[in-house]
This record gives sequence, C-alpha cells and structure tokens, in this order.
Amino acid sequence: MTQERWTAVDDYLTGALVPSDAALEAALDASDVAGLPREAVSPTQGKLLHLLARSIGAKSILEIGTLGGYSTIWLARALPTDGRLVTLEANATHAEVARSNIANAGLADIVTLHQGPALDSLATLAGPFDMIFIDADKPSNPAYLEWAVKLSRPGTLIIGDNVVRDGAVTDPTSADPKVQGVRRFIELIAENPRLDATALQTVGSKGYDGFVLALVT
Ligand code: SAH
Ligand code: DHB
Ligand code: MG
Repeated sequence: MTQERWTAVDDYLTGALVPSDAALEAALDASDVAGLPREAVSPTQGKLLHLLARSIGAKSILEIGTLGGYSTIWLARALPTDGRLVTLEANATHAEVARSNIANAGLADIVTLHQGPALDSLATLAGPFDMIFIDADKPSNPAYLEWAVKLSRPGTLIIGDNVVRDGAVTDPTSADPKVQGVRRFIELIAENPRLDATALQTVGSKGYDGFVLALVT
C-alpha cells in the first residue's frame, strides 16, 4: 500500500460518511491562508473524536493543542448547548485563526480558548473533564498526561494523537524528542493503575500514525 492509495481510500470514506461542511472547510481554508501547518486531524479522524465524545455523553472536553480549531469544532459539536470545551494553544497566530474559525462555526459560547503555553493554562483549570484530547508539542506529553489525570474523574476518556510517527515510536534510542515524549507518554499510561488503555495505528490522508485511548477507572 502506498500513501496515494491511503489518501484515495480516506477520500472515498470521507465522501461516503463524513459529508462536507461549510464551517469545517472554512476553518481549513483560513488556516491555509494564514500559513498554519497542515497538522489538523483528518475528516474521518475528526468525526471519530466527535462520535467518541457523543458516545460517552461528554459535557466537558479539554483539548491541548488547538492549531486552527479544526479538531476543536468537531469536538465542540458533540456537546450539548450547556456543554463546555476548553482548548489550549501557545501560538498567538494559531489562536487568533482558531478563535475566528470557532466563532464562524457558531461555537464561541461553548469554547474557551486559552492562549499561552498549555502547562501554564493547565494549572488554572478546574476539572473534571469528561474527555481530554492531547495533541500539542509531543515532548510535553508526559507532563500533559499528569495534568489530564488530575483533571479527570473515573470514566474520563483521554486520547492522544500522533503516537506512531511513521513507526518511529518503536525506536528506544531515537534522538527525536517528539519520539521520546511519545514513548514516555505510552509508558506512563501503561504504568498508571488508574488507566486502562489501547492504541491504534492509522493510515490515511495523514500518512502512518496513530491514537492512544486511555479510560480513567
Ligand atoms: N488539534 C489540532 C492540531 C494541533 S497541532 C487539530 O487536529 O486540528 C499542535 C498545536 O499545538 C500547534 O498549534 C502548536 O502551536 C500547539 N502547541 C505547541 N506547543 C504548545 C504548548 N506548549 N502549549 C500549547 N500549545 C502548543
Ligand atoms: C505534527 C503534529 C501533529 O499534531 C500532527 O497531527 C501531525 C504532525 C508534527 O508535529 O509534525
Ligand atoms: Mg495531531
């Protein structure tokens, strides 16, 4: 299988199951225009996050790593009108683009974006959150996991993006701090008796990567 084929299948599945949507497309377009990196979750992945949030009846969601707000919109749309989503973004340009995209999607009342390093914002938040999506700077994943557990309750679903990185995650000697951050993140999840977890490798328009899912027990 090649990247071309993975992308073609993703396009087919997206066309069949994930109808295109003006606000989501506008969010990606505005992100491109502003020169943001193309690192948002794919449409099928965004819808997976959305369906998981709805499945657990989430009323409060924490997201670490907003970028242009694409995954934020998917997640916030899973919430009831009295729900809340808190999203954390360090980069001022990303935050500004995201705020505009979130408002354009009609979600400004549900979403609170804290601009600044996530570790600073996390210390100010009150939990528990029903779902926590970790998708920012990978070297900080171990610290984000510690906060996620603190801001959780039994039943909280913690999800981490980009845990495979083209397979680099299997290399214990990797000099890449992103890989080391993800490896430590996985180890800490495995060691924590309060977490019951699995991970899934994914292919598609974003290449070869994966998600980790941990349930707080
Ligand atoms: N969740 C987004 C993608 C996030 S990309 C989506 O799927 O649509 C990762 C984001 O984390 C980038 O916008 C980057 O600026 C941000 N980031 C990097 N370091 C950070 C930090 N220390 N605190 C908060 N955000 C950070
Ligand atoms: C990168 C980060 C992401 O969150 C992502 O989904 C894809 C790539 C990156 O840092 O390269
Ligand atoms: Mg990601």
